[in-house]
Amino acid sequence: MKVHHLAMLAVVCLQALAAPARAGEIEVLHWWISGGEARAAQALKASMQAKGHTWKDFVVAGGGGDSAITVLKSRVLSGNAPAAAQIKGPSLQAWASTGVLASINDVAKAEHWDELLPKVVSEQMKFKGDYIAVPVNVHRVNWLWLNPAVFARTGAKPPSNWDEFFIAAETLKKAGVIALAHGGQTWQDLTLFETVALGVGGPEFYRKALVQLNPAELSGATMEAVLSTFKRIKPYTDKNSPGRDWNLATAMVIKGEAGMQFMGDWAKGEFLAAGSLPGKGFICTPAPGSAKAFIYVIDSFAMFKLKNPANTVAQKDLASAVMSPEFQEVFNLNKGSIPVRMGQKMDKFDDCAKASALDFTAAAKSAALLPSVANGMAVSSAVEGAIKEVVSQFWNSDRMTPAEAMQKMVSAAKAR
Ligand code: BGC
Repeated sequence: MKVHHLAMLAVVCLQALAAPARAGEIEVLHWWISGGEARAAQALKASMQAKGHTWKDFVVAGGGGDSAITVLKSRVLSGNAPAAAQIKGPSLQAWASTGVLASINDVAKAEHWDELLPKVVSEQMKFKGDYIAVPVNVHRVNWLWLNPAVFARTGAKPPSNWDEFFIAAETLKKAGVIALAHGGQTWQDLTLFETVALGVGGPEFYRKALVQLNPAELSGATMEAVLSTFKRIKPYTDKNSPGRDWNLATAMVIKGEAGMQFMGDWAKGEFLAAGSLPGKGFICTPAPGSAKAFIYVIDSFAMFKLKNPANTVAQKDLASAVMSPEFQEVFNLNKGSIPVRMGQKMDKFDDCAKASALDFTAAAKSAALLPSVANGMAVSSAVEGAIKEVVSQFWNSDRMTPAEAMQKMVSAAKAR
């Protein structure tokens, strides 16, 4: 046999070994279409294709995923669920309790997920003791992104507390720059609001008011201060902000049209995808007053019950791939988040990610690790939706007082 025949034979044998018992199709619902998000999603697609499976994108555009979840509901109701869907937080339990999710305990047991995941994460991925979802990453929400060239040009100083923030914003505004790039969509309004709530009220207030929905905290003096600070930010945004997508707001900072943006670190994926480097093209700094605290978002894929056995094989391969160290690294380098798998090497990650990893562990120890309300991690989707409405109404109205907003917030907390 000639040498190249031998080589061919070796390739064929290797392919046979690499190919799964049955190649299946894996349809995945997500909303990752911006620059950094798409690069991260591509890594997932590639890892499934490498196992011989067919990847089918089920993409519903819309930051924060509200539209995606609405479309998912109708697909599931009509008996046509995808294999996996980007579902997070308490919604995982809500979906599991309707009986549509599949257990992936066999994969989780074989791969020792209980030992590889922080408890706060593994608990959320399980329903009645069974894993029904696989976690992808850890995002941090309470970041402020800024363009250092714009700061240098205007003489503004990077802020670490709210007084400094308003001084910087004023300096930028006076220099004719849009101080804060903001996208006026309800989930972004609430993302900004929860960041202010943490920075002004502190972790304990955040937990009592926004996670435990304590009526006294939702309508007390601290909440009033939070609402006033939140509203004070509005004049530093531009008149075109209503309806703007979050990644377009990030692009304004990248291009130097705006000085700052408050956003979770999926924004870092945008900077990186645009070739902007940490410390040079952009700076990440914890949002004012929140350096020691951490508002988290854990993206995860819930697994749906499937009829076709080959597709079930593909689904389990997806779960296994997502938890692999290789995938955790390449995906999170692109997405802006950090690996959710513990003990992962961080040497390829930038300083923002390294800080995030240290702060995550420290915050967990000091009760300052808090779930994001705006991004589906803290309360039921009904309450989240109702709070979003109130916060956006307050942001957009010239007349609503903090007292009225607080009254509405107390009712929103009772939404079913
Ligand atoms: C998700 C991120 C996503 C962002 C913008 C958040 O709720 O957790 O994965 O990048 O929304 O769409």
